[in-house]
Amino acid sequence: MAQGLSVALIVEGLETAFMGRHVRYYPSLPSTMDEARQVALAGAPEGTLVIAEEQTLGRGRLGRAWFSPQGCLALSLVLRPSRRELSSLVMVASLAVVQSIENITPLRAQIKWPNDVLIKGRKVAGILIESALRGDAVDYCLLGIGINVNLDTTSIPEIASFATSLSQELGREVSLLGLLRTLMGTLERYYLMVRGGGDVLDAWRQRLETMGQWIKVSWDEGKVEGWAESVDEEGALLLRLRDGRLLRIPSGEVTVLR
Ligand code: BTN
Repeated sequence: MAQGLSVALIVEGLETAFMGRHVRYYPSLPSTMDEARQVALAGAPEGTLVIAEEQTLGRGRLGRAWFSPQGCLALSLVLRPSRRELSSLVMVASLAVVQSIENITPLRAQIKWPNDVLIKGRKVAGILIESALRGDAVDYCLLGIGINVNLDTTSIPEIASFATSLSQELGREVSLLGLLRTLMGTLERYYLMVRGGGDVLDAWRQRLETMGQWIKVSWDEGKVEGWAESVDEEGALLLRLRDGRLLRIPSGEVTVLR
């Protein structure tokens, strides 16, 4: 336990009702997503946290690899949201990550649509949501969060050109436990806000650094360029094309055109 994590330490300091209250801790896992799927299928309660000190086969969005050696936060939460809550989860999760980073460090973070978390334009955290539907209802949902906490990203050639970490930005190490506890608390608060009928759209929109710029988006239907005009209530990007049409893009990968 090089980073000093343990189930007892994690649960002891939590100030949540259910988020992170049931913990599955592993020194190493291929991916917390696969383990979380198993525990979800076995009936794990909402908020169950699967956390690993390192992942050997972590995965990101769009089939990419996600590097999380020791010193990073790599976790998946089992959630059982309604369909409406599920559509806000991208916003809930990215807002909670940004807020947690800002609560425990003096750093400022932004969101790159739809849910990359950046510091000074470099990626510091990623979010992966996988859900299983039964008919119209959500059977379970896995919320995966990876944060580069105490990591020298320059030592990983695959990510060195675009990623950063909290320790790199701060010039000192950050407490994984402190960040984890803060994250569980802020996630639960935003999640319950949505459950109670509240709205996180405005707060999320304000943190999106992608808006009001010429961008290129890769998505299911190919690549397209346009002006990032806005986002709708489900978090989809509204892209103004050069011919004036407004294109709705539910999810994709953005490159800002300079
Ligand atoms: C992305 O930005 O592409 C999403 C990255 C998500 C990474 C996290 S780390 C914990 C969980 N387990 C995984 O294998 N992936 C997610």
